[in-house]
Amino acid sequence: MNAPAPLLTARQIEARIAQIAREVDRHYDGETFILLVVLKGAVVFASDLMRQLRNPFELEFARSRSYGDSTGPEGSPNLVVPDPEKVADKHVLVVDDILDTGNTFLALKDWLLEHEALSVRGCFLLDKPTRRTAPMKPDFFGFEVPDVFVVGFGLDHAEHFRNLPFIGRLPEEAV
Ligand code: IMP
Ligand code: MG
Repeated sequence: MNAPAPLLTARQIEARIAQIAREVDRHYDGETFILLVVLKGAVVFASDLMRQLRNPFELEFARSRSYGDSTGPEGSPNLVVPDPEKVADKHVLVVDDILDTGNTFLALKDWLLEHEALSVRGCFLLDKPTRRTAPMKPDFFGFEVPDVFVVGFGLDHAEHFRNLPFIGRLPEEAV
């Protein structure tokens, strides 16, 4: 199989993450929040982002799986959520690798608000606006990408390519 063709380099990503961190710091302005990382794809982005943040936060994890081994969502996302006591009366920043259909974020947001989160914002490395099922804009995002399947920097195809230090386009023959 051919290697994924680079769309965004490691240097571009690093510089943009530093800018996102400043935006997040400005938004919370000293008020602590829950940084809720959506496993598994967001771990690489989140670990870089959190080391650039100056605002205080508490780290929590959620898990969502909607893709299986294919490149299209297989029904509604299957969520594993944190302990509800951790989010009640807290501001929550959901951190994910990509905002695609928006289904994962909307499902998490509903759950968080049901469990008394004070506010819910979304922060994504990538935004793929062409695939949204309902109109929605990310609160914070790094780069807009076209409607192609991307891998690397945490994003996988059937668990491959998460370790690529850049974002690339999955070769057609792999889809
Ligand atoms: P959404 O619920 O459709 O917004 O997207 C949820 C998840 O789908 C993301 O967190 C990714 O794990 C995965 N995903 C969406 N688009 C891509 C892609 O182009 N490459 C790899 N994973 C993707
Ligand atoms: Mg994911």
